[in-house]
Amino acid sequence: MVAKRDEGVKFFVPWSLRMQALLEAMRPGNEEDALARAIDPLRLPAHIAVIMDGNGRWAKRRNLPRVAGHKAGMRTVRTVIETGTQMGLKALTLYAFSVENWKRPRTEVDVLWRLLRAYLHTELAEIERQNIRLTAIGRLDALPDQVRAELDAAIKKTANNAGMQLNLAINYGGRAEIVDAVKQLVEDAKHGDIEIDEQAISARMYSAGTPDPDLLIRTSGEMRVSNFLLWQIAYAELYVTSTLWPDFTRADLLRAILDYQKRDRRFGGLAGSRESSGSTGEAHRSL
Ligand code: FPP
Repeated sequence: MVAKRDEGVKFFVPWSLRMQALLEAMRPGNEEDALARAIDPLRLPAHIAVIMDGNGRWAKRRNLPRVAGHKAGMRTVRTVIETGTQMGLKALTLYAFSVENWKRPRTEVDVLWRLLRAYLHTELAEIERQNIRLTAIGRLDALPDQVRAELDAAIKKTANNAGMQLNLAINYGGRAEIVDAVKQLVEDAKHGDIEIDEQAISARMYSAGTPDPDLLIRTSGEMRVSNFLLWQIAYAELYVTSTLWPDFTRADLLRAILDYQKRDRRFGGLAGSRESSGSTGEAHRSL
């Protein structure tokens, strides 16, 4: 069943009803509605990952401090999460803070932590209502104590929710993740024979249990992956838009999905191939 917003009931969107909650939330006849109706619900990406770039440039263009860009970016975060839930995405991963972001001025780093905490405070009820399961990936031990405590509490509170997995990459680096997985593998190998294959590494990544992203979106035009999910995006479709993150709208997200649906995903095989090297084998389930 699909619960409507005002019923105060948790969303649960089975695969067969994907997109329905979104279509019901649209104003008939406008551009977003047309974009949403053009999407094939049977070929939705199961997992979308996003590099939310361009907050600083958005602020600079308005002669505002960089942190104003991050605050404006939070509106987009809410829109993308709500839309993902309404579409029935299985997982949405947002790159909120990279291991390299510590190099930024202390004031900016502090604002990013404040925004994350504010999000957890003000949106937890909404996250619950949308039946979202919150998870986080990254070197979480290095987070400021309060951030870590509040993040852990939110993760625990939503652990049994059956809707979309909202996965926040915080103090995250793709290479750091691979290093940590290999360290774990070496440790585990001390206690018994382990066959070292892709599955053995995938199972030790922070993301173990989450399907690999089908679609990676990057805003603000940069053509790079910036140390994000290096292992998991092996076969993801890349979508780069010049739109800055605070300007990225629900319509832009729908355009990215429509573009994804035009791609021929071959996973190294020939046209029409369904073979995937995804770590969970679920990455292509919607194809
Ligand atoms: C990149 O823009 C953006 C970031 C480093 C941080 C993004 C974080 C948020 C929007 C808040 C996250 C919070 C939650 C709850 C997910 P940039 O500053 O590198 O922009 P620039 O390249 O234009 O300078």
